[in-house]
Amino acid sequence: MGRLKNKIAVITGGARGLGAEIAKTFHKEKAKVIICDILYEEAKTFSKKINATAIKLDVSDSKNVALVFNKINNLFKKVDILVNNAGINGFEQRQDIIDKRNEINKAQIEEFSKNKKIETHFDVTVNMTDEDWFKMLDVHLSGTFFCTREVLKIMNKFNSGSIINMGSVLGTTGGPSSPHYSAAKGGILGYTRALARELSSRNIRVNAIAPGYIKTNMTNHLGFVREIIKNQTPMKKFGDAEDIAWAAVYLASEEAKFMTGQTISPNGGFVMNQ
Ligand SMILES: NC(=O)c1ccc[n+]([C@@H]2O[C@H](COP(=O)([O-])OP(=O)(O)OC[C@H]3O[C@@H](n4cnc5c(N)ncnc54)[C@H](O)[C@@H]3O)[C@@H](O)[C@H]2O)c1
Repeated sequence: MGRLKNKIAVITGGARGLGAEIAKTFHKEKAKVIICDILYEEAKTFSKKINATAIKLDVSDSKNVALVFNKINNLFKKVDILVNNAGINGFEQRQDIIDKRNEINKAQIEEFSKNKKIETHFDVTVNMTDEDWFKMLDVHLSGTFFCTREVLKIMNKFNSGSIINMGSVLGTTGGPSSPHYSAAKGGILGYTRALARELSSRNIRVNAIAPGYIKTNMTNHLGFVREIIKNQTPMKKFGDAEDIAWAAVYLASEEAKFMTGQTISPNGGFVMNQ
C-alpha cells in the first residue's frame, strides 16, 4: 500500500476492463487518478467508487486530446503517470464479423483434420476498408502518440514521469483475423522503445505492457476459440485484469526506477521472451 502516494495518474480507457482495474489498483496504492474515456457516463459512475476524476476523451481526436490535457494541467498542475490504455478490437457492434470469423476458424480446423488441406480462408486484408484500418490505427497508435505529446508538455516541466503503453501479445505473434490490431500493437511496442531513448535524458521512463488473453469485454467475442487459446497457453487459462494492473503499478512506481523501453507481458506463457 502507498507505492504511488502523491502521484497523479491519467488512465485512458479507464471506464472499463483493464483500465478500470488499473485505476482501482492505483487508487489502492494512494495515487490520485484521472479517468479519461469516450464512455463518459460509465467513467463518471466508476470514478465515484474510487474517488477519481472522470473526463470525457476521445484519444483518436488530437484536438480533443489537447483540450483535455490542458484541462488536466489547469486542475492538477502536474501528471506523474500516463497509462495509454484505451483500445478497441474492431468487432464492437459487429456480431456478424464475430460469427463469420468463428465459422471460418471452425471450418479450417475441420478441413485440416479431415484432408490436411485448408480451403476456407480468412481473407481479412483483401476485404478490409480504409475506414476500418484507420479507425484501429487512430485509436491505438495515434491515440498513444496524441496523449503522449500532450502529457509531455506537463511532464517536461518536472523532468520526471512514467508512461505506460498498452501493447498486446498479438503485436508480437500476429493474429490471423486482426492484421490492423496487430499492426497497431506492434507499432506501439516500437514507439515505446523510441520514446524511452528520447526521454531518458528527462528522467521520464516509458514502458509497455503486452497482455496475453485477459477476461474483459474485449475478449467476450472469442466464442469457441477461447478453448483453443487456453490449450495453447501453458497455464491453460485466461488472465484476470488484476494481473495487468499489478504490472502497471510496478512500472509506475519508484521500484521500477531502472526500467525503461521494456515490455512486460503477463500472458500465462502464451508467448515467451517478448
Ligand atoms: N483484454 C485483453 O485480453 C487484452 C489483451 C491485450 C491487450 N489488450 C489491450 O488492453 C487495453 C484495454 O482493453 P480491455 O480489454 O480493457 O478492453 P475494454 O473494451 O474492456 O475497455 C476499453 C476501454 O477503452 C475505451 N475506449 C475505446 N475507444 C476509446 C477512445 N477513442 N477514446 C477513449 N477511450 C476509448 C472504452 O470505452 C473502454 O472503456 C486495450 O488497449 C487492448 O487492446 C487487452
